Amino acid sequence: MNKTQRGVTVWFTGLSGAGKTTIRMAVEQELRAQGYKLEVLDGDVVRENLTKGLGFSKADRDENIRRIGFVAHLLTRNEVIVLVSAISPYRDIRDEVRARIGDFVEVYVNAPLSVCEERDVKGLYKKARAGEIKQFTGIDDPYEPPLTPEVECRTDLETLEESTTKVISALRELGYLP
Ligand code: PPS
Ligand code: MG
Repeated sequence: MNKTQRGVTVWFTGLSGAGKTTIRMAVEQELRAQGYKLEVLDGDVVRENLTKGLGFSKADRDENIRRIGFVAHLLTRNEVIVLVSAISPYRDIRDEVRARIGDFVEVYVNAPLSVCEERDVKGLYKKARAGEIKQFTGIDDPYEPPLTPEVECRTDLETLEESTTKVISALRELGYLP
């Protein structure tokens, strides 16, 4: 189905294990079911191709985010809804990408570090605590929360359905969905 739609980048930022990919997938499913044209850029996946070889220093993370932002911009200006999920820990680069894209909705996927660490879905926090992974966000690398995100999802306090509804409602209120 082809609907008339506005392009927008929906940028999910937050700690590893906060729920970026999970909420992004639920939003994706909902919007696809409604017939929207979507594309997805997930940090974990992008790092296997577009940004392969980059590590987790500030310079490499910035490069990762700039490349993701570049592609997101191309798609957004072609009326695609782009769902980006990446830790994107640095505020200055997120804001740089926001300024370039313009049609940008920031979703702060927020759960306390203790909760993310407790979940430890991929076992990475354990490794980071053991010193087997260096520069792990939240452990020995910074995360700068957004100051004024369009949406904040507290994944330790709300259900996935509530978080998903928040994102979709915000897109509607901001005029990206009818
Ligand atoms: S960034 O900071 O935005 O460039 O990171 P991103 O591209 O989203 O990649 C994060 C995923 O890489 C895994 N991983 C790490 N995360 C943070 N710090 C370190 N050192 C690290 N090493 C590997 C991890 O699986 C992240 O995925 P998510 O989905 O966030 O858990
Ligand atoms: Mg993920």
